Amino acid sequence: MDQNDMKRAVARAAIDFVPQGIIGVGTGSTANFFIDELAGIKGRFDGAVASSEATAQRLRSHGIKVFELNEVGDLDVYVDGADEITRHMHMIKGGGGALTREKIVAACSRQFVCVADQTKLVDVLGQFPLPVEVIPMARSYVARQLVKMGGQPRLREGFVTDNGNVILDVVGLNILDPVRMESDINQIVGVVTNGLFARRGADILLMGTPSGVEMLRPA
Ligand code: 5RP
Repeated sequence: MDQNDMKRAVARAAIDFVPQGIIGVGTGSTANFFIDELAGIKGRFDGAVASSEATAQRLRSHGIKVFELNEVGDLDVYVDGADEITRHMHMIKGGGGALTREKIVAACSRQFVCVADQTKLVDVLGQFPLPVEVIPMARSYVARQLVKMGGQPRLREGFVTDNGNVILDVVGLNILDPVRMESDINQIVGVVTNGLFARRGADILLMGTPSGVEMLRPA
């Protein structure tokens, strides 16, 4: 079973969590497998709120209705992938650059179901560069503050978020307290948000392994 098979398997398993109403849908290759699975049951739910333009487009291409978050209020379930996740269900997200909208949809959702293959499970976050979405004019100021925090920020070249901002990918951070670091980075003026999902982590991890899908809850 390769990594894509494991992603496909967790995407299929997440179908059990789809409510009758409107579901929040994340961004990335695992989320894309989930969207493709949703297509097969589209008569069973009303539609979706998308965490990115790419996800909205893929949902619509399957004939799934896409709602604006402001039209619908809170959601029962949000399904999304992660770049790294711990057994405490803290995550790094934003490899696809959709972190801000992902965090907004997650905040509005009663249950966050993370879908990921086993390579994403880590003891300590931070091997994956931490994405930070930044207002363009604040880019070098924010980069200097991140250096003071021990990080080495790199501009994601040629990439603009759905919100018209840039991403700094930060390596070298010692993320032993992800809840605190999430808040500390968000306090820097010019930061829109960062890819630490610790204050609102996942509620369930559906983890793809070569022997099947395991369901984990916060340790
Ligand atoms: C996008 C994300 C994705 O969830 C994360 O990058 C994981 O992607 P994939 O499922 O392709 O491994 O946060 O902004």
